[in-house]
Amino acid sequence: MTTDTYNTIREARRAAAQPREFADFAWTSENAAQVQTIFARYPDTRRASAIMPLLWLAQEQMAAAAGSAWLPVPVIEFVAGQIGMPYMRAYEVATFYTMYNLKPVGRYLVQVCGTTPCLLRGSDDLLRACADRGLLKGGVTTDGLFTLAEVECLGACANAPMVQINADNYEDLDYASLTAILDALARGETPAAGSAIGRRASCPEGGPTTLKEMVA
Ligand code: FES
Repeated sequence: MTTDTYNTIREARRAAAQPREFADFAWTSENAAQVQTIFARYPDTRRASAIMPLLWLAQEQMAAAAGSAWLPVPVIEFVAGQIGMPYMRAYEVATFYTMYNLKPVGRYLVQVCGTTPCLLRGSDDLLRACADRGLLKGGVTTDGLFTLAEVECLGACANAPMVQINADNYEDLDYASLTAILDALARGETPAAGSAIGRRASCPEGGPTTLKEMVA
């Protein structure tokens, strides 16, 4: 038996063992319209290209409906069926990209960047802040609020260290500022995204250091 065949059989067993509680998944009317907008971006013969935005849309709908942004097997099956591609091909896409969650996550998915610029600027302190608050990598806190993931560069290196929480970036963090953000989320608040030290975009700390005469 080849490794590919073995993996296919193993995955089929895993899929069969998953609860079918989302077998009745269907688009909301708003998302059904959004699907048509997405399909319109591609020629009819290239509908498979819509797999990534449709999986993302399905995951967002799961977050809104079930409070957890993830893709159960029946939901991936639904999306694959709508595009007309085999489930396994859709599953391959969902497993390749870390933006798709294949098991339930907390209401807030806290992704701590651990790549070199963030590491040198204190990402270990951010992981410690998460750990001290009970966040576990890959696990969901008992209150259902948080899941922790350590990820590679999220493209905000100039403002390292940073985390992405759901769709928002929090930058220029340290132990105290991340703890404050997690506390605010737990209280149901929406802390302001962006730099914790007031940095504008990726400008130097404290404001421009060159071309000052061009600043209004
Ligand atoms: S290294 Fe952390 S955002 Fe790039």
